[in-house]
Amino acid sequence: MTYDKENMLDKLDKFRNQVEEAFKIAKKAKLPKINKNKISNIVVCGMGGSSAGGLLLQSFTKDIPIFVNRNYNLPRYINKNSLVFCVSYSGNTEETLSAYNEAKKRKATVIAITSGGKLAEKEKNLIQIPEGFQPRIALGYTFIPLLISLSRYRLIANQDQPVRDAIRGLVPKTNSKEGFMLAKKLFNMIPVFYASEDMHGVAYICKTLTNENAKQPAFCHFFPEMNHNEINGFKKNAKKIHVVMIKDKQDIMSIKKRMEITKKIIKESSGGVSELHTKGKSLLARMLHTLHIAMYCSYYLALMNKIDPTPVPVIEDLKAKLKK
Ligand code: F6R
Repeated sequence: MTYDKENMLDKLDKFRNQVEEAFKIAKKAKLPKINKNKISNIVVCGMGGSSAGGLLLQSFTKDIPIFVNRNYNLPRYINKNSLVFCVSYSGNTEETLSAYNEAKKRKATVIAITSGGKLAEKEKNLIQIPEGFQPRIALGYTFIPLLISLSRYRLIANQDQPVRDAIRGLVPKTNSKEGFMLAKKLFNMIPVFYASEDMHGVAYICKTLTNENAKQPAFCHFFPEMNHNEINGFKKNAKKIHVVMIKDKQDIMSIKKRMEITKKIIKESSGGVSELHTKGKSLLARMLHTLHIAMYCSYYLALMNKIDPTPVPVIEDLKAKLKK
């Protein structure tokens, strides 16, 4: 097998440039006119790597209802007062195309974010992003235009400074090192990522990056909900699990306390507990910094697993079978 590890590493090292470019694309993009006061909800349609931006947006902004639609159809409340982003890196994902058609039928305002494919052919309200990436590594291109569009519509606060802060934190050398150290702990284990509900999007993307890059099982859950069910499952067969607690300075005291107690409870019965402390001035900076580390971690885990991090043949094969 030929390994494309150089290419993936290069993309991770240049993630900062990606976010910078995505910021420029988003600032310049021509957005359709909306009546801001009439928008009652925001929907981000997308699957897999292309849904990650929506999940971050949902974790990030609590100013307006945001729904991440990872399905063929849309909830019944989507109508002409909805702002619907259809995100598909390839532009050819069938669930996203189906949700797109439904959003158009319901006369919602639709904006497509894609590198091409059928979505680019169909939609004139288009934020075109560069080709040549695996969708999960194109997070800058799929997330920043969502964020900046909402900020340009003044549906959320201005995000220019938080984006600049975030860019400063995407330092390849230190983040790569931290990712590698974490990968060493996770090697031969089943990673389980926990965070507060506010950071759940981040924990979920850590999980999916591990699944897609390192090609191994990984899971996630969030506080306080996991204290009411999952914690009870650490009595049996938990020695293969290595827990990564994602801790953020904005976690409220009750969550901090729960994390500490949980750590003590599962320390002996699990295969280990590590902490990943988010770093950065703004929440946005802390989220992207943590995910940059997670990208490196999943990349190094793939190399330790002797697996090429880049291709996802199982996903491709499944998509091909569905077309038959
Ligand atoms: C592959 C990946 C997948 C895709 C998903 C949807 O790298 O991350 O999760 O993102 O299958 O495809 P797109 O993003 O092209 O709509």
